[in-house]
Amino acid sequence: MTGHSRAITSNQPGPHRDLTRRVERALQHPLRKPVADHTREAFERAEHWRDARARMPLILDAGCGVGLSTRRLASEHPGCAVIGVDRSADRLSRDHGPLPDNALLVRADLVDFWRLALAEGWQPARHYLLYPNPYPKSVHLKMRWHGHPIFPVIPALGGRFELRSNWRLYVEEFALALRQATGVEAGVEAFEPDGEPLTPFEGKYRQSGQSLWRLVTELPHRPELLPVE
Ligand SMILES: C[S@@+](CC[C@H](N)C(=O)[O-])C[C@H]1O[C@@H](n2cnc3c(N)ncnc32)[C@H](O)[C@@H]1O
Repeated sequence: MTGHSRAITSNQPGPHRDLTRRVERALQHPLRKPVADHTREAFERAEHWRDARARMPLILDAGCGVGLSTRRLASEHPGCAVIGVDRSADRLSRDHGPLPDNALLVRADLVDFWRLALAEGWQPARHYLLYPNPYPKSVHLKMRWHGHPIFPVIPALGGRFELRSNWRLYVEEFALALRQATGVEAGVEAFEPDGEPLTPFEGKYRQSGQSLWRLVTELPHRPELLPVE
């Protein structure tokens, strides 16, 4: 990924006024959409891979793109099993060198993969959401992860959770949604990655001189956040 990247522009001056309502709805009504067969199969393969690493703490890299961060996290945490998930076969297929033995790339829809992970009792030690698609137009709130019906599953999984974005408001809204769903207060901070960027998008934004924002918080595993219908 190269080149200049423009800073986010949005017609939203502050947190979306429907955010609280969206989160409330997601907390009251769990997503019922059936899990796609291809993600169920991908999840089963991931479970099988994990079985061979049952004693290793799990790191999830959600929306891993080309999997650079998955590789880096696996090298930084050799004692952990790192799973990168992305729905784009094209991104996942790009050659970024061999995968370490403690890393796995999975093609799957996170909306399904996260639900299966929670249902199977997965408890990631660390959970990364690095530069999710921002969907900055106000009308697209429901496509941002914190405005999506899947949202409560993310904190329910628990672990040290880290979100990074080049759009401050995305991280601020996510923090508000987290507080509403869990009571956890997570601070939003500007940060400068030291050394190599963790992901291609991080590199691209940095090259363009954009500010980077993140939220890091420790979340308890709380499957009961999801109502049983
Ligand atoms: C802006 S890119 C960031 C990729 C990478 N984390 C990075 O920083 O370079 C967002 C990624 O999220 C993935 N994504 C978006 N929605 C997804 C979903 N429902 N399930 C799985 N991956 C998804 C996209 O395919 C894309 O690779």
